[in-house]
Amino acid sequence: MTDTLTTWGGWAPAIRDDPFGHFAAAGARCPVQKARLADGHPAWVVLGYDAARQALTDPRISKDMLAALQDNGDVVAEGLPGPEFSRHMLNVNPPDHTRLRRLVSRAFVPGRIAALEPAIRAIAGSLLDELEAAGPGATVDLIEGYAYPLPFGVIGELLGIPAADRPRLHAWFQVLLSGWAGDPPPAAVEASAGIVAYLGELADAKRQSPADDLVSVLVAAGDEALTTQELLSSLFQLVVAGHDTTASLIGNGVVALLDHPGQLQALLADPGQLRAAIDELIRFTAPVPHATFRVTAGPVTLGGVEIPPHDQVLVCLGSANRDPGRFPAPDVLDIGRRDGPNLGFGHGIHYCLGAPLARLEAKVAFQALLGRHPRLRLAAGRDALAWAHGDGLVLRGLVSLPVVLGPGPRQG
Ligand code: HEM
Repeated sequence: MTDTLTTWGGWAPAIRDDPFGHFAAAGARCPVQKARLADGHPAWVVLGYDAARQALTDPRISKDMLAALQDNGDVVAEGLPGPEFSRHMLNVNPPDHTRLRRLVSRAFVPGRIAALEPAIRAIAGSLLDELEAAGPGATVDLIEGYAYPLPFGVIGELLGIPAADRPRLHAWFQVLLSGWAGDPPPAAVEASAGIVAYLGELADAKRQSPADDLVSVLVAAGDEALTTQELLSSLFQLVVAGHDTTASLIGNGVVALLDHPGQLQALLADPGQLRAAIDELIRFTAPVPHATFRVTAGPVTLGGVEIPPHDQVLVCLGSANRDPGRFPAPDVLDIGRRDGPNLGFGHGIHYCLGAPLARLEAKVAFQALLGRHPRLRLAAGRDALAWAHGDGLVLRGLVSLPVVLGPGPRQG
């Protein structure tokens, strides 16, 4: 047990860009430690596989952050875009969690996900066409031109957001997810108001003319099934959870493969390894390095440390997935690794609902990109890359990824 208050998050660029050594050193000191977050709030940080897995399933650790805020003003305050968007499945406990997850799950049944594959391929293909128009020797930004718009287009298809509206919505979300210290800047307040208004109008439009999409399904379920606040919160959470995470996996994954040319060659030689490679890239690059915040509903002993009631808990998935007790040689990227599931998509009742969709998107994204550009390379030095997202807690993705696509496989 440690009495010293560790600082967690708000790291200097060197740690933010490569946090794994920092996670390992902290985990070696103690798997559960009280920390102060970059915004000043206290939280118990949970490190290592066993403690993380327990924290994600322990019923005494609650996800009802709104109730927690009333019990203890010291938990992280709900950020933008405000209470309209805070009652979704990731912020509630059963039975509300069970009800909301069941409703949204209707869009995630295997047949519906598989049916999206041609649309995902079409989006990936047209994004690559646009990037290729710059010429084989040109530098293009793979984040802005591929990793972001691909999952954003897919979540747009799933929800039924008209294609013409997506650029506007995408721009707002980019502002909102760019991260900042202290009070939100005016641009974020404006983006937030834009999203609130847009999603409300979208729900109204689907009420008038329903279509074969998730917004129509949720609207049709009616007020008895979910309140307007729950409906808007769920839509907001799906857009956030559905694009930034996958964009980070694509960007981080490309960098990891370019950093490990032997692994890239192994994948190119045997594309059948792609499914396993994607899970290994999630483990190794931590697109979601921490789970979302939780709070103790009663006293909980975790990793030998007693956490008092009403305290905030932050589970470090990036540390769990590099635990040497669970993954031998954890700092080695090995697409042939068969060590069983990692915690990159979480665990327990809040396990990522979108995991099958994320895996499908990543499969199509890597197949299309590497199939057309097997000799893709970084345009600038490796040191020029920088990871974004403010405090670096819940998301870990690149600001930009300048690459030269090079000639396609047939030309050279
Ligand atoms: C590589 C991509 C992704 C990663 C690494 C990821 C990771 C995660 C993690 C770690 C959680 C659990 C958070 C917690 O327990 O605090 C989660 C939950 C969730 N994710 Fe994902 N996610 C990804 C993509 C997606 C996509 C594409 C969607 C939907 C389109 C999605 C929808 C959700 C939802 C709805 C939840 C909440 C589940 C619940 O509370 O029951 N995610 N995700």
